Amino acid sequence: MTGSPDKPFSPACERNRGPILEVLRGYLGNARRVLEVGSGTGQHAVHFAASMPWLAWQASDRVENLPGIRAWLDGAALPNTPAPLALDVDRWPALAVEPFDAVFSANTLHIMAWPQVQAFFAGIGTVLAPAGLLVVYGPFNYAGAYSSESNRAFDAWLRSRDPASGIRDFEAVDALARGMGLRLQDDVAMPANNRCLVWRQRGIATTGSSPASSSKRAP
Ligand SMILES: C[S@@+](CC[C@H](N)C(=O)[O-])C[C@H]1O[C@@H](n2cnc3c(N)ncnc32)[C@H](O)[C@@H]1O
Repeated sequence: MTGSPDKPFSPACERNRGPILEVLRGYLGNARRVLEVGSGTGQHAVHFAASMPWLAWQASDRVENLPGIRAWLDGAALPNTPAPLALDVDRWPALAVEPFDAVFSANTLHIMAWPQVQAFFAGIGTVLAPAGLLVVYGPFNYAGAYSSESNRAFDAWLRSRDPASGIRDFEAVDALARGMGLRLQDDVAMPANNRCLVWRQRGIATTGSSPASSSKRAP
């Protein structure tokens, strides 16, 4: 992350926001309220809210990131970006009387330690409307293997700076999602060996349910 202390800047956000928006547009046409977890700089919030004016984009992050997010939101002055919320997945606050139609999170699960990844999914169940969507963008491993050499190197770098972090196994993350009653709708290949995972809330998990549809699954 670069930029001024007032307005942080992530070059990666500028690169990935277009491809992510394409996926979001396909799923959020009827959404009214979307919660973003781990908004980071706030660049995604501004871009997605400006591009999808029919919905309210609720940014959130740990409290130390809120000033930067506010700077981006204030600079854009969009009508559909409420003030960012303090949200640490270890302590999900009571966010709203009305549940969210969708939750979005980019590049967070490989930053969080595994107990926080578990807390992320536990919290989703408390804020997502019935039939609501969860969209998660980032790198994932499949069948215990890296999907590229660049992801292997990225994982090594992540673990060198925080041994609790690291690229997550798709299957382990999907198991958490299923435990919260979410069913995989899509797994979209994104540039730079990232994925967009899309789940839909289907009620409490049961065994023996039918497999999710998935258009572009990794091997
Ligand atoms: C690599 S940044 C990604 C930021 C932004 N979503 C993006 O794609 O540029 C990881 C984000 O996860 C957030 N994060 C890490 N641990 C968290 C937690 N326990 N609860 C909520 N957010 C967390 C960080 O504050 C940070 O904003």
